[in-house]
Amino acid sequence: MSREITHPTYNYKVVRQFAIMTVVWGIVGMAIGVLIAAQLVWPALNFDTAWMSFGRLRPLHTNAVIFAFGGSALFATSYYVVQRTCQVSLLSDKLAAFTFWGWQAVIVSAVVTLPMGYTSTKEYAELEWPIDILLAIVWVCYAIVFLGTIKNRKTSHIYVGNWFYMAFIITVAVLHIVNSMAMPVSMWKSYSLYPGAVDAMVQWWYGHNAVGFFLTAGFLGMMYYFVPKQSERPIYSYRLSIVHFWALIATYMWAGGHHLHYTALPDWTQSVAMVMSLILLAPSWGGMINGMMTLSGAWHKLRTDPILRFLVVSLSFYGMSTFEGPMMAI
Ligand code: HEM
Repeated sequence: MSREITHPTYNYKVVRQFAIMTVVWGIVGMAIGVLIAAQLVWPALNFDTAWMSFGRLRPLHTNAVIFAFGGSALFATSYYVVQRTCQVSLLSDKLAAFTFWGWQAVIVSAVVTLPMGYTSTKEYAELEWPIDILLAIVWVCYAIVFLGTIKNRKTSHIYVGNWFYMAFIITVAVLHIVNSMAMPVSMWKSYSLYPGAVDAMVQWWYGHNAVGFFLTAGFLGMMYYFVPKQSERPIYSYRLSIVHFWALIATYMWAGGHHLHYTALPDWTQSVAMVMSLILLAPSWGGMINGMMTLSGAWHKLRTDPILRFLVVSLSFYGMSTFEGPMMAI
């Protein structure tokens, strides 16, 4: 075992736990994806059971792949990266352990309640209010562990990967809490506090930024650590990474309305969202180029290093999908 994974003071236990659960939830989430894909071809595969129907398993698939699989990967890598780049161990091992068990509890609750038909009906925010509250508590503890570790750092500056992780953690807390505001009428049923078109706008402000901050900013935190690390090259441009960061988070926030084109949402809001989506191409590609160019002088390593190949392919797919997004918006 190499020295780096047996460091005596860093907390690698929680990193390992989340890494293992990433694999487990990846298999579960994608297996459900395969099942619902098959149901689209052979509807009889729901076996006439309500809890196996497409409508109930589809949100289970999306929650499992985004929050269970993606989320566990983000917890694992952020705890790993923050310790190594700040040269201190996590703020609190107990609180970090709570975030692991709490996050798994949220996921297991989703696995039980979604097939039973308990749903708020908001996409990517289907979980009912008691689970939403647990999720908010776990997430705030995550923020405390991460930000507290940064505060205790022994390095003078905050490495750019941690900027992205911080934006991801803080923004997801705000998105989740605001979008989940609801009036409970029973243990497993609540109604959104927002009316009509406002509810739709709040939902897609949340939904789009779930992609923008959970699946993008968090994963860019990963990218900014692991691409330079694996290619053994410094990041192509630190200046570009700062521009990339601020431009990306400032623009993403305004693009959610593109999920509501030609709806009751006011026209001007739709136009703002469309224009912001077009602008978003620039910071997205800025980040993609910053990652790709980090390989300058190290491209030959692709011949022998499969990890680097996966990283480069991820970056190129990121480039392609962030081109597709603005085109769809316009
Ligand atoms: C074996 C791999 C996978 C399969 C077979 C699969 C299959 C599916 C299917 C059949 C749908 C529903 C499509 C529809 O309603 O018409 C879906 C939706 C979705 N999947 Fe997957 N999926 C897989 C992996 C993933 C992964 C890894 C992610 C993200 C980390 C993901 C994220 C999503 C999202 C966000 C949606 C909703 C899309 C939308 O509403 O526009 N899936 N998937």
